[in-house]
Amino acid sequence: MADSTDPQSQQPQLSEAQIAVHWREENTLPPPPPFIAQANAAEAEIIERFSEAHFPDCFTEYADLLTWDRRWDQVLDTSNPPFWKWFTGGRLNACFNCVDRHLATSGNKAAFIWVPEPEDQLTQVITYQELYRRVNEFAVLLEDFCGLKAGDRVTFHLPMVPELPVAMLACARLGVIHSEVFGGFSGTACGDRIADSGSRVLVTMDGYYRGGSLVDHKVKADEALLAAEKHGQEVDKVLVFRRRPGQYASASPMVEGRDFFVDELLPQYRGRTVKPVSMPAEAPLFLMYTSGTTGRPKGCQHSTGGYLAYVAGTAKYHLDIHPEDTYWCAADIGWITGHSYIVYGPLALGTTSVLYEGVPTYPDPGRCWRIAERLGVNIFHTAPTTIRMLRKLGPEEPRRYDYRFKLMTTVGEPIEPEVWRWYHDEVGKGEAVIVDTWWMTETGGFLGTTLPALQPMKPGSCGPGALGILPVIYDEDGNTVEAGSGKAGNICIRNPWPGVLQTVWGQPERFVDIYYAKYNRNRDSKDWHDWPFLCGDGAVQAADGYFRILGRIDDVINVAGHRLGTKELESAALTVPEVAEAAAVPAIDEVRGRAVEMYVALQPGLAASEEIRHSVAAAIEREIGKIARPAHIWIVPDMPKTRSGKIMRRVIAGISNFADVGDTSTLANPEIVDDIRHRVQSDKIAAGHVPRVLTPEETQEIQEFGKAE
Ligand code: WTA
Repeated sequence: MADSTDPQSQQPQLSEAQIAVHWREENTLPPPPPFIAQANAAEAEIIERFSEAHFPDCFTEYADLLTWDRRWDQVLDTSNPPFWKWFTGGRLNACFNCVDRHLATSGNKAAFIWVPEPEDQLTQVITYQELYRRVNEFAVLLEDFCGLKAGDRVTFHLPMVPELPVAMLACARLGVIHSEVFGGFSGTACGDRIADSGSRVLVTMDGYYRGGSLVDHKVKADEALLAAEKHGQEVDKVLVFRRRPGQYASASPMVEGRDFFVDELLPQYRGRTVKPVSMPAEAPLFLMYTSGTTGRPKGCQHSTGGYLAYVAGTAKYHLDIHPEDTYWCAADIGWITGHSYIVYGPLALGTTSVLYEGVPTYPDPGRCWRIAERLGVNIFHTAPTTIRMLRKLGPEEPRRYDYRFKLMTTVGEPIEPEVWRWYHDEVGKGEAVIVDTWWMTETGGFLGTTLPALQPMKPGSCGPGALGILPVIYDEDGNTVEAGSGKAGNICIRNPWPGVLQTVWGQPERFVDIYYAKYNRNRDSKDWHDWPFLCGDGAVQAADGYFRILGRIDDVINVAGHRLGTKELESAALTVPEVAEAAAVPAIDEVRGRAVEMYVALQPGLAASEEIRHSVAAAIEREIGKIARPAHIWIVPDMPKTRSGKIMRRVIAGISNFADVGDTSTLANPEIVDDIRHRVQSDKIAAGHVPRVLTPEETQEIQEFGKAE
């Protein structure tokens, strides 16, 4: 709240929408003719078919890509806004759609090709037939041995191994709701998610290869169970896959009666099959947890019929996947990208999906291109952070390999036009079309991107709305920010779509608050027009209708394409007894997009020490995972605070980024700012950091950081 005696409040307040965004408009590139000649969406008429006039029926075209046990009665049920229901009355099974229905024509075709990280280990080809066997056997195990049935939840904490999609599809076969926690997350983070979802079974692995070593993973299961127990959630079975069957890779003991090696159990189920359970279209298929503005993670609940239809349709038209393609998405299945565009979308279309276990630059920056060359990958899907890293370490490496991509994707964070051009010219050899796909965990599939044969590419912009998606930018007051105005605002989606999350697991009020409350026009309205969906990103729309995404508007830091909640980071730091206050801010990082910098103030009377800094890093790694490890931990005498005691994150974010910290006269302790600035910036410079001038968008992001609180 502004203080009325404060000189600031006398000045007109600038809303986000009024802040002009300046950047050079990039030239567009047309899709290459050979791509157009083979594209799934090659006639401009498809854009008309998916226009607002045909909403919501246009999405039946996506649903028709699936095999239904019973056809739907209604395309979109809006009777309980904003809990939309798609294809109600319809019944289907997701596993049947991804596996069984391909057996007759493609049983012998590779569903997955799995590449282990060590280059001397054999690639595994899993045909649709073999996948069918493995999924069935594991499904019978889940049913018989674990007693699971439709509607139960199971947590997975699995790395990038074929056992992960096998387990997902086995759950889908039974109507059991899976919840995969990214393998790199800590045991504690996994335990919190086990508890939130109410899972009684955890599926994990003893170890996996990463960066050249076999990582002990089972140890995290023990931590996870302790964390779950603290929340009152008992887990009665832990199923442990062994990375090398017969050889246990973990130092953590197996607990008698609780922990079981899957390779010892499976022989009993050899050849057993279970009928796919016919599920209502709106039955939940899985949960995917993500970070939001408070510490408690949000379990985004995705549906069976709507979600599967949406990922199949977008994979067909926007990724241009044909059954004959060899498609490689180098994301981790532990994130939404992997669920939608490694497993469910590509398999629903009956294509071959490549899985890679390890680090893209291991053992050298040519690894990805060797994989692409050897397997004949023709669609490649990755994130800007990986592209930046590959460019830095091996700018000319792609030229040494003989592969040809027809299409490449970038996803997860904004891509700088320079990096985009390297991706296009070097990785794509000037021949591949690029789709920049903007979306989020909550949305199931793409929201903003191009139709690769019909709409030109523009470096740094994702494109217009995806088929059937009606994006709009609103200012703080709900006025539309016009295309071409050069102004930024909050990007929203005006209409419901089949891939949108159904709710936040166990927190329906929070679901309404986070995504709909801001721009809802009337809480009682049953008209979808009154319920725009708030995506949580700032964006600008150019005169040609293309959107450029500026990043999150809530207090989430996007590190290497992964959303980390500042509250989660800060509460992890606060588990260190010496720490009194903690604030996490983003620092602009040339490779990872954003890095986390953690500021901590200690309990009275304590002196800063290397040990404390070490404990904070260890706490964050323990509570969240290595991925969240801060680039710097600064121990400061006090935090800059408002008179009401709120930590001003934008001020410290400004310091970390050598940006203007803005007006500090309203702080309760303005004198602390120079003190902190001096400590932090001189340390950084002494360590060899060369500050660069931020772009106007970066400056805006930093200066507004934490503003949503
Ligand atoms: C960001 C990942 C710019 C955005 C699929 C979003 C992007 C957040 C893009 C969601 C893109 C994703 N261009 N920014 N193409 N794709 N983002 O939930 O800020 O892990 O809100 O889903 O990533 O991250 P999430």
